[in-house]
Amino acid sequence: MPRCSIVKHDFRFTVDFRKLRDMDAILICVPTPLDEHREPDLSFVRNTAESIEAALRPDQLIVLESTTYPGTTEEVVLPILEKSGLRCPIAPYTICNAKTEFASELQADFLLAFSPEREDPGNKQFTTIQIPKVIGGVNGPSAAAAQLLYGQVFKEVVLVSSTRTAEMAKLLENIYRSVNIALVNELKCLCLRMGIDIWEVIEAARTKPFGFTAFYPGPGLGGHCIPIDPFYLTWKAREYGFPTRFIELAGEVNTAMPDHVVASLVEALNRRQKCLLDAKVLILGIAYKKDVDDLRESPALRIIQLLQARGVKVDYHDPYFPQLPKTRHYDFGLTSVELTPNTLGKYDAVLIATAHSCYDYPAIVRHARLVVDTRNATADVTENREKIVRC
Ligand SMILES: NC(=O)c1ccc[n+]([C@@H]2O[C@H](COP(=O)([O-])OP(=O)(O)OC[C@H]3O[C@@H](n4cnc5c(N)ncnc54)[C@H](O)[C@@H]3O)[C@@H](O)[C@H]2O)c1
Repeated sequence: MPRCSIVKHDFRFTVDFRKLRDMDAILICVPTPLDEHREPDLSFVRNTAESIEAALRPDQLIVLESTTYPGTTEEVVLPILEKSGLRCPIAPYTICNAKTEFASELQADFLLAFSPEREDPGNKQFTTIQIPKVIGGVNGPSAAAAQLLYGQVFKEVVLVSSTRTAEMAKLLENIYRSVNIALVNELKCLCLRMGIDIWEVIEAARTKPFGFTAFYPGPGLGGHCIPIDPFYLTWKAREYGFPTRFIELAGEVNTAMPDHVVASLVEALNRRQKCLLDAKVLILGIAYKKDVDDLRESPALRIIQLLQARGVKVDYHDPYFPQLPKTRHYDFGLTSVELTPNTLGKYDAVLIATAHSCYDYPAIVRHARLVVDTRNATADVTENREKIVRC
């Protein structure tokens, strides 16, 4: 939202949790990462619910938006909020003509719903209000209140019959992406061996007007959602003795992609009789996807780690990261190098990890000695193609 709109709408920020009492609706959208054992870390959700509980008053609507496993709203958030002595009973409701129907005698002191955030950072095609908002309530009044709230902002509100359905819908969306990306990553590795261009294959397949959605291979999964969220469901599924094989397999394939990239790079250097131990590699694009300033779970970080472990001197360039900040897993202490013809020519290989739109790919290929392209960013480069290795 532009700054002037925030001022116009009297939008204020505060760290004073006591102010929660003055609010009619409270939306929770705190991080939901995995812990060191790759299990859900709900500490942010719990801490936030505890802060709200301390200020909770009757008739407030609380909505959890963080991505999480089915059952979190009812099993984690609700009991914390009910410590206040106020009640929000779990009760089934039905939906008829986009309206909730429920028993009129139902008494709820406060209202609780789940409505997943569905943002796609960097996506200019869909703004927040254009993305339909899925809503599930702990009971009918909660769903109806959340529908009323979000209906004022979002063009379309999609009511579902419970918080668990809404929680699962969000996970299905992300698991669908993870599995399809893994599928196309695996087929890419096969196509490379078979001498078939996977990108050309996808372009041909996507001309089918039904039954096919294009997904594209890359150096591995990144971002705070797709590599993480599916494992929230895997964890919950254990409670039901149910193995989530698609999620596990997709995780396995996608996690192996940085190793595949490094192996391709090593092979390309070997073919040029370049010893790995004194090789210098420049990585282009550190963000987890193009044109965003977000490097959470970025596969480029894992690639740097793998290369450094093999004795390679690694530098990077990314217009969005003048310095590489310390993350939970990595602390390289690197700064972005200047991208000039001279710099490009100094490296034994330039590895395109993230295809930012601002890069001049023909110039990169012209000045680099070897280009390892994980994103098909050089597809339209016509000169010096012998320097390009696609992997
Ligand atoms: N960012 C996205 O594009 C996106 C898209 C879909 C879903 N989600 C989901 O939304 C949730 C938040 O993701 P994010 O990327 O916005 O996370 P984030 O790391 O940007 O953090 C969100 C906010 O939570 C605040 N916060 C952290 N702990 C807090 C606490 N104890 N009390 C109050 N505030 C606290 C942080 O200061 C920050 O402002 C996650 O569950 C994520 O999976 C995010």
